[in-house]
Amino acid sequence: MDQYVIKGGIPLQGEVTVSGAKNSALGILAATVLTDEQVCIKNLPDISDIDILLNAIEEIGASVTRKDRNTVLICGANIKQTTIESENVRKIRGSYYLVGSLLGRFKSAGVLMPGGCNIGSRPIDQHLKGFRALGADAEITHGMVKADAKELVGAHIYFDCTSVGATINLMLASCLAKGQTILENSAKEPHVVDVANFLNSMGANIKGAGTDIIRITGVEKLHKSTYSIIPDQIEAGTFMLAAAATKGDVVVKNVIPKHLEAITAKLVEIGASVVEMDDAVRVTATDRLKSTSVRTYPYPGFPTDLQAPMTTLLSVSSETSTLTESIFDGRFKYVDELAKMSAKIKVENNVAVITGVDRLTGSKVVASDLRAGAALVIAGLMAEGFTTVEQIEYVERGYENLEGKLRKLGAEIIKTDSKDEKTVKKFKLKVG
Ligand code: EPZ
Repeated sequence: MDQYVIKGGIPLQGEVTVSGAKNSALGILAATVLTDEQVCIKNLPDISDIDILLNAIEEIGASVTRKDRNTVLICGANIKQTTIESENVRKIRGSYYLVGSLLGRFKSAGVLMPGGCNIGSRPIDQHLKGFRALGADAEITHGMVKADAKELVGAHIYFDCTSVGATINLMLASCLAKGQTILENSAKEPHVVDVANFLNSMGANIKGAGTDIIRITGVEKLHKSTYSIIPDQIEAGTFMLAAAATKGDVVVKNVIPKHLEAITAKLVEIGASVVEMDDAVRVTATDRLKSTSVRTYPYPGFPTDLQAPMTTLLSVSSETSTLTESIFDGRFKYVDELAKMSAKIKVENNVAVITGVDRLTGSKVVASDLRAGAALVIAGLMAEGFTTVEQIEYVERGYENLEGKLRKLGAEIIKTDSKDEKTVKKFKLKVG
């Protein structure tokens, strides 16, 4: 198992370039099996979730050629099976997008139940409801999500709750169906729009992505395309919060400022400075930040994926802040780890009450999921002394070369095997 070792108290300074969006890439890679022609996907983030999904796509018979770590050619001409049973797909959430795309093209799909971060109950009833509305028999059986149909006919689907996954999955399943599908109460996240734009670049007819009503008119066939994934809104937000948390001065490059408005607004509200440029934001903070109240919401609200990093930032604000998690029911596990670092946070139901302390103190802590891990890294950057973050394979699921990007910003951080005490000792002596 790998770990990060961090010497805290150093303000982050300089420029960092954000990678492609993980939560776009997973939907877009799954969408490539909707055509038998070759597609080229650029600006892929080099993270383990992508490797797992590409392996699954290759396993069913598609050809997958990694031109480099951020560019892949995929051709689904020779796909010979529509069932994926490799244990690997259990590790990621995005594997369930292969149900939508294989059902959409082959009218048949079977994928092991998706995994992903342990952040509370994550049912897929809205996905199944949508597949059934299109005419498929869809069920969870023997640990697999299975969907089969004689034909898929467009339908009017009203989601009971706003779901990124269900919205993307139903765009995938309906773009080759007969007639028009209307998705109501759809998710509006930037990555939903990115998947729709990619599908349209292959010849799909999708209108309204980014609003809560999406209209998909089925087409006969999808064709080749070359497409570049949008920058990762959540990675960008993570670096913005880390800059403010360390009283630094960081230019976060390769971003779409509009996607970051909820984070920018909160940072300015608590006393940080955010300067927006065409494709970058500059975040600086000098004095102790103020307290505030935050509630997570579907886009364009404050993203649930930045809830943990934001709570960490507020843990040293003046007075008391609250953070309400309105999307997942188990996304505060990291708070016990922050308590080891002298944070004073009380969680009742889905509300964290954060009493600002003067400083965090370094400790050994354990990542429980992707964004919790990122929050603990930020805590380590802020804390007095050394922090070790264990189980960082969670973090590497969603952040490309995090320690390298942080070192470029002046952070004293190394990645080592958790048994490699010699390297840790050398690091601590060196940066003392
Ligand atoms: C996606 O998960 C992201 N993952 C998550 O990011 C993100 O936190 C989440 O959207 C919300 O933005 C990927 O894109 C791979 P949802 P997803 O369906 O699609 C309920 C990260 O850190 N729901 O929008 O699983 C669900 O329980 C990850 O990058 C149903 O009840 O999220 C939740 O309470 C973590 N039934 C809410 O809706 C369903 O059929 C939102 O879930 C589907 C969802």
